[in-house]
Amino acid sequence: MKRHRLAVLTLSMLLTIGADSQSVSSDKEQVSYPPLKEQFKDHFLVGAAIDYGEMYSKDSTLHRLIRREFNALVAGNCMKADHTEPRENVFNFKDGDFLVAMAEKNQQVLTGHCLVWHSQVPRWMFVDSVGNKVSREVLIERMRNHIYKVAGHYRGKVRGWDVVNEAIEWNGDYRKSEYYKIIGEDFIRLAFQFAHEADPDAELYYNDYGMDSPGKREGVVRLIRDLKAHGLRIDAIGMQSHLSLWTNLEEYEKSLIAFANEGVKVMATELDVSVLPWPGEMPNADISTSFEYQEKYNPYRNGLPAEVEAKLKDFYERLFAIYRKHSDVITRVTFWGVHDGGSWLNGFPIKGRTNYPLLFDRQLRRKNIAL
Ligand code: XIL
Repeated sequence: MKRHRLAVLTLSMLLTIGADSQSVSSDKEQVSYPPLKEQFKDHFLVGAAIDYGEMYSKDSTLHRLIRREFNALVAGNCMKADHTEPRENVFNFKDGDFLVAMAEKNQQVLTGHCLVWHSQVPRWMFVDSVGNKVSREVLIERMRNHIYKVAGHYRGKVRGWDVVNEAIEWNGDYRKSEYYKIIGEDFIRLAFQFAHEADPDAELYYNDYGMDSPGKREGVVRLIRDLKAHGLRIDAIGMQSHLSLWTNLEEYEKSLIAFANEGVKVMATELDVSVLPWPGEMPNADISTSFEYQEKYNPYRNGLPAEVEAKLKDFYERLFAIYRKHSDVITRVTFWGVHDGGSWLNGFPIKGRTNYPLLFDRQLRRKNIAL
């Protein structure tokens, strides 16, 4: 009995040492890959979104993986407006500060996500004390105060900000968000102006999903031109890159090229690749989209069949071939999460599914995908 316990201990110690020396093992085969940050160090940063689950995890293997693989982090939820300013002018920086300390300790570049977005914005933002819509002037002032306080607080701690998230529709029009409806289309210009005033050294990004759609591409190009025409700083376009096995990578690459041609850098900011069916017509990443659970939409709850695993591998290889090809304009590729078990895609757009969108599986093993 005692000998058995000792054997178990030795095995787990060996596994730990194995993880440190960057060799990752799976039940099927032993595959060893260089850490992502090493592999792409001459090309772009490689990052991961960190949510509360990872931040406050006591799992040292998980933390070792995060340190070993990534040289960039982004806030998964803790820097969004509903979290940082839950009540008007009452700020909560506790979790964001924790993430700053984590990134500093790990020597990772931190990105702030995000200052102005129609989702995860506190209810009070758009209404007065009796529930009536506020005026343009009031909302501009609330937006200014939010940006000044949040970007001001993290000044010097983050390299850049997703200043505005998801403000453009599929057809290139502005999304009719409350910001748009109350302020007008110049809310985007104002947000970039305020962010620059709050932290003049921070890089400023516009971030959106569905960038493989031609309409969105044109809308984003128009936005870059508009910001530049108004003398505003914009450093890069964040292509969220919530992709699926069915995403048209040619269209995706066209957008990447179109943005770079406008003289900005490009980043994949929220990369994941869903292998599950999308129940509606047009896949999107708008977090308000939801569908009811049905078994047929959750086909791989007991594991991913080899042929789908092969498709995922092929997709990731084709995607990273594009990133390598354009590495002169790509500054960062960030995964939206660390491992499949922590991915938001297990809960979006249907709760309770089992998805496999990331490079590390539920046991934190690197998948057999050579990038
Ligand atoms: C997601 C988070 O991962 C979830 O935990 C949260 O419940 C909803 O938001 N686009 C974005 C991200 O810009 O902020 C979203 O993150 C995913 C879609």
